[in-house]
Amino acid sequence: MTPTASSVLGKDLLGLEHLSAEQINVILDTAGPLKEISERAIKKVPTLRGATVVNLFFEASTRTRISFEFAEKRLSADTVNVASSGSSISKGETLVDTARNLEAMRIDMVVIRHHASGAAKFLAERIESNVINAGDGTHEHPTQGLLDLLTLRDKLGDLRGKRICICGDVLHSRVARSNIWGLTKLGAEVAVCGPRSLLPNAIGEMGVQVFDRIEQAIEWADALNVLRLQLERMQAGYIPSLREYNRVFGVTSERLDRAPRDILILHPGPMNRGVEIDSDVADGPHSVILDQVTNGVAVRMAVLYLLAGNKPTLATAARGDA
Ligand code: CP
Repeated sequence: MTPTASSVLGKDLLGLEHLSAEQINVILDTAGPLKEISERAIKKVPTLRGATVVNLFFEASTRTRISFEFAEKRLSADTVNVASSGSSISKGETLVDTARNLEAMRIDMVVIRHHASGAAKFLAERIESNVINAGDGTHEHPTQGLLDLLTLRDKLGDLRGKRICICGDVLHSRVARSNIWGLTKLGAEVAVCGPRSLLPNAIGEMGVQVFDRIEQAIEWADALNVLRLQLERMQAGYIPSLREYNRVFGVTSERLDRAPRDILILHPGPMNRGVEIDSDVADGPHSVILDQVTNGVAVRMAVLYLLAGNKPTLATAARGDA
């Protein structure tokens, strides 16, 4: 398979900021029918047979890494997983040298998670293979944004005019950025809610409302996307304590009981139970958190399928005889 820049998405998927609503809808429309493949006894179609995908994960991941690997295997691609520990990156080899050495072994696509914002773009500009951003620093996490959009669209229908509030640690969140870009392009009304210390100064420039109280967000929204408090990215001083954060901003069943309408609860994971979200909410009737995980495989299959240059002819994708 030759890497392609002629797909409906271009060569790479680096973020949702520069995708059009039409491109986002093509991905979601392609992912919908692909979900069925994961329900089959034999969860495999030959669509990407002969293609080689390298998963470069330089940061911890459960959902994204495993669902990319499932997506690749379900499309019959050959996959290789590379982590920084155990590879020559731990001896000081640069990201580009690692990728160029992999390309010398004739790969087709690279999926990259990296702690540095911009790492995926940096790589995409220097190698011929298709590059998919699986989360770069605090910049974007486009496939998470897409699976959140698919989950919301499955539950709420057309997202135009729907009210989605992103709650918590927006400052450190690449998921928040991808959600804001994707939701606004699809016509949703978007808000954020959290302590001012955890909201970017320029958040208003992204066209979102700001709520200072979680009760206001619950009263307003059709869905809350509750973010993990990213303790590993924080220096001291953002919040007084985890207990205080839960008391003021925690999504609890007592607060949801006062919602004026049905409200969906999303969380990209991993969750800090008892901090940003209580367990009875995470496991309760409002939660679509495991639907997000299921949709993650289909969205990643769609992105791989489209970046490989396949046409968004849905029946063909699901049949696997593209
Ligand atoms: N949502 C998400 O990116 O989870 P992981 O860090 O487990 O991949």
